[in-house]
Amino acid sequence: MSTHHTAGPAEALLRRHRAVMPDWLALYYDEPMEITHGEGRYVWDGEGNRYLDFFGGILTTMTAHALPEVTKAVSEQAGRILHTSSLYLDRPMVELAERIAALSGIPDARVFFTTSGTEANDTALLLATTYRRSNQILALRNSYHGRSFSAIGITGNRAWSPTSLSPLQTLYVHGGVRTRGPYAALDDAEFIAACTADLEDMLGQTGGDVAALIAEPVQGVGGFTSPPDGLFAAFREVLDKRGILWISDEVQTGWGRTGEHFWGWQAHDRAGPPDMLTFAKGIGNGMSIGGVVTRADVMNCLPANSISTFGGSPVTMAAGNANLNYLLEHDLQGNARRVGGLLMERLRAASAGLDVVREVRGRGLMAGVELVDPDTGDPSPQAASLVLEAAREGGLLIGKGGGHSTSSVLRIAPPLSLTVAEAEEGAGILERALRTANNELGGKSSQ
Ligand SMILES: Cc1ncc(COP(=O)(O)O)c(C=O)c1O
Repeated sequence: MSTHHTAGPAEALLRRHRAVMPDWLALYYDEPMEITHGEGRYVWDGEGNRYLDFFGGILTTMTAHALPEVTKAVSEQAGRILHTSSLYLDRPMVELAERIAALSGIPDARVFFTTSGTEANDTALLLATTYRRSNQILALRNSYHGRSFSAIGITGNRAWSPTSLSPLQTLYVHGGVRTRGPYAALDDAEFIAACTADLEDMLGQTGGDVAALIAEPVQGVGGFTSPPDGLFAAFREVLDKRGILWISDEVQTGWGRTGEHFWGWQAHDRAGPPDMLTFAKGIGNGMSIGGVVTRADVMNCLPANSISTFGGSPVTMAAGNANLNYLLEHDLQGNARRVGGLLMERLRAASAGLDVVREVRGRGLMAGVELVDPDTGDPSPQAASLVLEAAREGGLLIGKGGGHSTSSVLRIAPPLSLTVAEAEEGAGILERALRTANNELGGKSSQ
């Protein structure tokens, strides 16, 4: 195993960071690291250590680091003009909008570009509440949709909810977490029936016309949990009866990451397409692009002007177009399915018999490993931290997440161009890291 040390430059930078940045800006690792460059699926820290990157800056380096096609498109556009604003016609923006509208499956689709996922969801909320003349929103328990005042109001995850003040009245329903909570013991069909009954019961208790349901097909920050396939089709029947819009937050699940489907909602076949779809993260391969897609009557319901100074900026749009070309031409969705399937198998094998692992879940290149205290079976953020540190020591970067204020789930989401050899390499490092944590916490291992 190679050894990685953090000393010198990172320590000094950390002191400066702590002096000037907010305390709540979460940093990974006991000794936080600076990533100075990357190539393909690898990144390097300030001391020259190389790591396999299985988190891609929160699922955002979607295709690869320093992808020549994207770098070239960005630098060529930067050489022409950096910024014009949405007050002027923007060729790369129109081109990307046309392509996303066609890919969305939404009829008569319009696209509005933002600079982040938060702002995309904020726009979706503005549209839904205006269209329906209601400030009531349905969200899933354990949800995360962003960091702004409006997005925090629809966050069902305590760890990411710093205030209860909100312009919205949010009604939280079951469905996002399959293997914990009151319905965990039910089979899939019963689980869907119970969640649908809960949704109907909740709607029966509200005074107004609910505007929309917003949901992540696979909950990201919540620890890569998801409902059984078909849940959103059952929800949709209930929503449609009342004219309630369905917003699919595809910020983490879009563009083929889940392998079998291009969008996460497609796992719910009869449900789709949603009324609105929000996206961000991966489409720019690191450039800040977010957006909303919805049909024209919903998009055009705003009774006043709106602009975005930075949304749709030519440089980010050039990156988005080049990145989307690469993704489609190289069938990265197919790669996510194939290599993701192999990675999932390896993770299941590595975890088998380790007391510290409760569940390995996910789809495509979106794998979650839920860790527990071997003695109590409770979610163990300590175990997740131990594995994160040990994986880093071994030369692998991963993420974590989870519900109820506990980051006890490892989040593994490499760039979609991951090779079989890299999947094997990462799985090997992770296996050693899991064993280290299991031993340290006194867990047994039956292998
Ligand atoms: C599902 C989901 N929606 C929205 C967001 C917010 O996106 P951003 O951080 O770009 O504002 C995130 C970020 O992690 C996310 O995971």
